[in-house]
Amino acid sequence: MAKRVVLAYSGGLDTSVIVRWLTERGYEVITYTADVGQGEELSEIPQKARVSGAVEAVVEDLKEEFARNYCLPTLRALALYEGKYPLTASLSRPLIAKRLVEQAQRVGADFVAHGSTGKGNDQVRFELSVWALNPNIEVLAPVREWEFRSREEEVEYALRHSIPVKATKEKPYSVDKNLWGVSVECGPLEDLWEEPPEDAFEWTKDPRHAPEEPAYVEVEFEEGTPVALNGKRYALLSQLLLDLNALAGAHGVGRIDMVENRLVGIKSREVYEAPGATVLYEAYRDLLSLVLDRFSFHYFLSHISHQYAKVVYEGLWFSPLREALDAFTSSLARYVNGKVRLKLYKGHLQVVGRSSPNSLYVEDLATYSERDAFDHRAGASFTKVFGLPLKVLGRVREKC
Ligand code: ARG
Repeated sequence: MAKRVVLAYSGGLDTSVIVRWLTERGYEVITYTADVGQGEELSEIPQKARVSGAVEAVVEDLKEEFARNYCLPTLRALALYEGKYPLTASLSRPLIAKRLVEQAQRVGADFVAHGSTGKGNDQVRFELSVWALNPNIEVLAPVREWEFRSREEEVEYALRHSIPVKATKEKPYSVDKNLWGVSVECGPLEDLWEEPPEDAFEWTKDPRHAPEEPAYVEVEFEEGTPVALNGKRYALLSQLLLDLNALAGAHGVGRIDMVENRLVGIKSREVYEAPGATVLYEAYRDLLSLVLDRFSFHYFLSHISHQYAKVVYEGLWFSPLREALDAFTSSLARYVNGKVRLKLYKGHLQVVGRSSPNSLYVEDLATYSERDAFDHRAGASFTKVFGLPLKVLGRVREKC
C-alpha cells in the first residue's frame, strides 16, 4: 500500500513542487489548505493540487475557529513577542497542524508534511503541535532536504513536470497572511538600515496618503470579547477582524518593523502589518487597566504578556502552560466589559475615551474639585509608613 501523507498546501511554488517531489518518492499526497483570512482566492487550489499530483485536495474555511480560539486568547494575554510582534504567523501554525493530524486520521495517513525551511520558526511550530496531538505521526519537511539550491532550479523542475508556475514577476518578499496580520521578510528588508519599501506593505496605507481627517472607532467588549465596532454588532469575530483590518489599514495604522530573535538562534528583520490587532490590543489594554485593581493589573503586566508570547512564538500552543495561562486571562476577561474610543490618524493610534460598567474609576476620589471625597490627611500616615524603608536607609547611610 502506498504511504499516505497530508501536506499543508498553500498553492505556491514550494508546496506545489513538494506534491510532485513526494509523489516521486512513493507517497500518495492529500493536500490541505485552510482559509485563515489570508484574503486570497482559494477556489483554484484543488485543481492546482491535482495538476501537481495530489490524489485529494481539501480546502476549509477556518476563519472563525482561528479568530475565536487562537486570536482571542492571544488578545486577552496582550501577547507581543519581544514587546512588538503580535504573533500573526505563529498563531496559524498550531491550528493548521491540528487539522493536518485530523485529516491524517481520516485518510489513514502516517505522515504529514509542511513547506517550512530549516532556519525558520514555522517548522518548530508545525512539528511540536503535531507531536503533541499525535506522537506516532511522522513529519516530513522536504524543503529542509531537497536538492534545489535556488528558485530557478525549482522553477525548472516545476516546468519539467507541468506544475503551474505564475508568469508574473513575484515580489522579492516571503509573506504570510491571516486575519491577525501580515508577516513580511527577505529581499530588501535584509538590509537593516534601509527603510522598508512601500511595496512591502499590503494591508496598510502609506500614512502620507492616508485621509487628512482622523477617523474614530468605538470598540465594544463583552467579557473580554470584542462584539461591536461603531455600534454595529458582529456575530462573527472573524468578520469584525476583517472590517477592523480594512478600517485601520486605510489610516496606515499597525505597521511594525523589528529585528527579532528566531528560535534557531539567528536574528532576522521582520516587517508586520496588524491593523486590526493593533487597535484591539490598545483598546483591550485600556479597558483592562480600568476594570482591574492595581494588584491584578500589575501582576498581569509583569507575568502574562511576555510569557504568553514566548509560548506561542516557540510553538508550545498545545502545552499545559498555554492552557493554564488561558485560564488566568479568561478569569480576568470576565471584567472586560464596555467601550473604548480610539482615534486613527495617518499611522497613529490613540485611545481617546473609555467607559465600563466594571470601571473602578471613582470620580469623587479622583477629582481635584470641591467634590473631592479623598481623605488627604490619610496621605501623611500612608506616605510615612510606605516610605519607612527608604528613611531607614537614609539614616544608616548618613552615619557611615
Ligand atoms: N517571523 C515571524 C514568525 O516567526 C513570521 C514568519 C513568517 N513566515 C513566513 N513563511 N514568511 O512568526
